[in-house]
Amino acid sequence: MTQTRIIDGKAVAAELRGEIAREVAGLKARGLVPGLAVVLVGEDPASQVYVRNKGAQTLECGMASFEHKLPADTAEADLLALVQRLNADPAVHGILVQLPLPGHIDSMKVLSTIDPAKDVDGFHVVNAGRLAVGLDALVPCTPLGCVILLKRELGSLAGLKAVVVGRSNIVGKPAAQLLLKEDCTVTIAHSRTRDLPGECRTADILVAAVGRPEMVRGDWIKPGATVIDVGINRIAKPEGGTRLVGDVAFAEAQGIAGRITPVPGGVGPMTIACLLQNTLTAAKRQAGLG
Ligand code: GUN
Repeated sequence: MTQTRIIDGKAVAAELRGEIAREVAGLKARGLVPGLAVVLVGEDPASQVYVRNKGAQTLECGMASFEHKLPADTAEADLLALVQRLNADPAVHGILVQLPLPGHIDSMKVLSTIDPAKDVDGFHVVNAGRLAVGLDALVPCTPLGCVILLKRELGSLAGLKAVVVGRSNIVGKPAAQLLLKEDCTVTIAHSRTRDLPGECRTADILVAAVGRPEMVRGDWIKPGATVIDVGINRIAKPEGGTRLVGDVAFAEAQGIAGRITPVPGGVGPMTIACLLQNTLTAAKRQAGLG
């Protein structure tokens, strides 16, 4: 039976934030204060928590934080006008519009309105395209966090078989692009994949990003594989109350996986750290500091 190593994303994220804070201090001494604007439309409780955490950590790293909270019935035109104001604001180097947006707003239209140079989520088609063809891009934060963890754990990823379960624009597709860039052999699997468990069993690196609590079972994991669990699902406990679980049945994976990220404390903290990293990168590029 394998001794499964738990990957401490919380500790790695804290380290990364420390490095970012040091670099921000250097920039501030030269008169540049990186600024991140976060836009939240409506009152989704999970989104409110994320936005609060993002704002607090932005300030902790010494950057400027601009929060824009708009009511759920905000007109699309008003949101687009706000994004355009932020595009034009020289104190704002990064813009993040929290998803999901209310149903009456066309998310794609909003994301396409963000200046690609300020698109710290990496969701604009220009950044997605740049990543796909191997140019410098602002890269989506969650997959970037996954790959940072993987490289710290495994060193070179070259030649490893990676299976990404989930094909979203936010995680699955960019995760596959990043793993390909690291010379992995990459498969994107999804809900329509034939023999999903069998596909997962071929993976040296298994990235679960489907948003379904504990869908990936222990016997879907190749012994010794590295498992990155992107899911954050709140489920009811039999005794009342709720708890967070990932997309992987964590207890079943013990003794099979070589390494695994826990939920919470795995990929989640890395996402915000990478957002701060992207904001720093965007600020430096906008200031002509490479
Ligand atoms: N909602 C859930 N995850 C994300 C994210 O990474 N960025 C944005 N903008 N919204 C999200």
